[in-house]
Amino acid sequence: MDFKQIVSHCKEYGFIFQSSEIYDGLAAVYDYGPYGVELKNNIKNYWWKSMTQLHDNIVGIDSAIFMHPKTWKASGHVDAFNDPMIDNKDSKKRYRADVLIEEYMDKLDAKVEKELKKAAKRFGESFDAAMYKETNPRVQSYLEKKDAIAARLAQAMTDGNMEELKAMIIDLEIACPVSGSRNWTDVRQFNLMFSTQLGNIAGEEGKLYLRPETAQGIFVNFLNVQKTTRQKLPFGIAQIGKAFRNEIVARQFIFRMREFEQMEMQFFVAPGTEMEWYNYWKDMRLKWHHAVTPAEKLRFHDHDNLAHYANAAVDIQFQFPFGFKELEGIHSRTDFDLSQHQELSGKKLQYFDPERNENYVPYVVETSIGCDRMFLTMISNCLMEETVPDADGKESKRIVFKVPAALAPVKVAVLPLLKNKEALTEKARAVHQLLNVHFPCQYDEKDAIGRRYRRQDAIGTPYCITIDFDTLEDNTVTIRERDSLQQERVGIDQLVEKIAPKVSMAGLLAKVLE
Ligand code: GAP
Repeated sequence: MDFKQIVSHCKEYGFIFQSSEIYDGLAAVYDYGPYGVELKNNIKNYWWKSMTQLHDNIVGIDSAIFMHPKTWKASGHVDAFNDPMIDNKDSKKRYRADVLIEEYMDKLDAKVEKELKKAAKRFGESFDAAMYKETNPRVQSYLEKKDAIAARLAQAMTDGNMEELKAMIIDLEIACPVSGSRNWTDVRQFNLMFSTQLGNIAGEEGKLYLRPETAQGIFVNFLNVQKTTRQKLPFGIAQIGKAFRNEIVARQFIFRMREFEQMEMQFFVAPGTEMEWYNYWKDMRLKWHHAVTPAEKLRFHDHDNLAHYANAAVDIQFQFPFGFKELEGIHSRTDFDLSQHQELSGKKLQYFDPERNENYVPYVVETSIGCDRMFLTMISNCLMEETVPDADGKESKRIVFKVPAALAPVKVAVLPLLKNKEALTEKARAVHQLLNVHFPCQYDEKDAIGRRYRRQDAIGTPYCITIDFDTLEDNTVTIRERDSLQQERVGIDQLVEKIAPKVSMAGLLAKVLE
């Protein structure tokens, strides 16, 4: 399905609504509807359990969104959490300078793809795409141009060189997508933090920030947690919570939001061991993704320019409908954050290592994933249109959300074959009551059975149970499986036993450990 269809499906089926829609919405802010919140909670649960339940040495916290303003000075966010922005003087539209350049590079990629497609058609079965890429002069020139731009961009971003970014936009003759003109302002730094004011303190002193990442709540609690849980290094602290960024480019639905949710884990390690743990977490996180997403849609992408706190950083990218983009970041953050907090607070944030017999500020490896981006990954990958056989032997189209059963918003739908036969509806309600203490269930009696199946397919319900006249005789029901469409006759007393292992989180967690 294309991106537009995905977005409208999310609205039509109660997954996601535009925030304050009756007032024409608020850009890049979204509300999760009844099925959306269930799916999102399941994603969070999958992450939380894989961190805290599968690792004895990872514990969770839930820290406040507001933090002492010095936190953000120490972390570098006040001085360095900026995006380079540029305005077009004719359209008055504002853009991220680096994104304009990246989009230019995407166009070069698209040209390469076009050349490859053309050549594949020309050469037929014997076509070797890798060889063609390496030898065809036109493809080579596109790739070389792209590499040169990427290197220049990385250098400019690392140096914080705004003049160079502007020069690149001019050199590449990038035009405003709205006005078509190249009438640009200079590039300026724009801080991404939202600020607000404490009621009882005037001026700068009372200036608070909405946290732009959850990580700092973990850093400032490092010693509290370590002492109260008596953890030894290496150990981790996990947290799920809201983060806020005043994004300049707020597009692509829930991919880039101004208010979003992060699932972050900081793993505290002895200095000198951080690369070993960085590699460990790269592996672990990829396994977590592979349990729910096909490997070919995921890839690692090393950062071209490192954030102010990192000595190594990689993204796990997912192939969204608009291309491979960052889904999760894994960063080796050194001792930057703890050392900074130690300096600005004047409080020691050190660990006594009994094996080394010394005190030190631990190093940190971080895994950080946006819950909303994971949601978009699931929707983009698992929502599809397919042709299936009808009951009368013909074919029809259905939209089905083939989300892993453990993440599905509703696990079971109970459907009486007919609405106006009281014996059937009564029995169906009894089955629904039997099951809904075990799983999120839905009872649905409205419309023909085929339409009810389609409704459940569209929200991703893995099992539909139909109560028919035979049920009244022998206490068996038909259970229909969402993906295979296979139907099976099962005794009511066996339903829980049959469904539970297929929809449980345990199955997914076991895959992570495989
Ligand atoms: N603590 C590290 C950190 O915040 P980041 O790469 O800036 O690193 C981590 O963000 C993750 O948060 C990203 O990989 C992405 O999934 C998610 N994220 C970041 N900005 C976002 C936004 N504006 N909207 C939705 N998700 C976002």
